[in-house]
Amino acid sequence: MTVTNEVLKNIYERRSVRAYADKSVPEEIIQEIIKAGFHAPNGANTQGLRFAVVTNKAKLKAYAEKGRVMSLAAFRAMNEQRPSEVGERMVKQLSNPDNDIFHGAPAIVFIFTTPNCLTPVEDASLAAENMMLAARSLGLGSCWIGFAKSLAHDPEFVKDLSIPADHQLAASIILGYPKKEEMKPSVRDEPKVLGWLR
Ligand SMILES: Cc1cc2nc3c(=O)[nH]c(=O)nc-3n(C[C@H](O)[C@H](O)[C@H](O)COP(=O)(O)O)c2cc1C
Repeated sequence: MTVTNEVLKNIYERRSVRAYADKSVPEEIIQEIIKAGFHAPNGANTQGLRFAVVTNKAKLKAYAEKGRVMSLAAFRAMNEQRPSEVGERMVKQLSNPDNDIFHGAPAIVFIFTTPNCLTPVEDASLAAENMMLAARSLGLGSCWIGFAKSLAHDPEFVKDLSIPADHQLAASIILGYPKKEEMKPSVRDEPKVLGWLR
């Protein structure tokens, strides 16, 4: 099937971007992307997600380094208990002090779930994908940063962003203008459909 539809084109052209131009993202664009995230389906329409944004360069640098160090400790502990090839790869990657886990992005949006969410993991993941697709449609790159999750345990992060104690950090999405405007979309294998009863 040839894709002519803009929505499908956007889905297929999105990719995780890990190199950003030194150019800030206008606040109204970040607001729009958050709005797109909040418009995602959510269990029982509780609309329980909350968002926090960091565009401050010094804070981005500090949080990226904290996230790297805390994730390294977590992966080391996990790997000791249950060694795995991917775990070892993560430890190696995170051991590099030059590894900026935010990839030099000028903005990061954190998605929090609240006790009000009926289906917190699903709600946050759907919001995250809406945001990444919205970003792509606006000429921005994005990437989900799982390594940022450990920041939830950092008292400075919690205080800086006024995060209530009952909110859980569920997803962290970096945003920015890609360094190279034309980026190859990511490649996927053919999906495997297990069954199809007709
Ligand atoms: C839950 C989750 C956590 C991720 N964490 C990271 C991360 O910490 N750093 C990173 O560079 N990419 C991260 N990614 C991006 C994946 O590596 C990426 O989606 C995958 O390699 C497929 O590539 P694509 O997004 O370009 O299609 C994460 C993706 C997901 C869904």
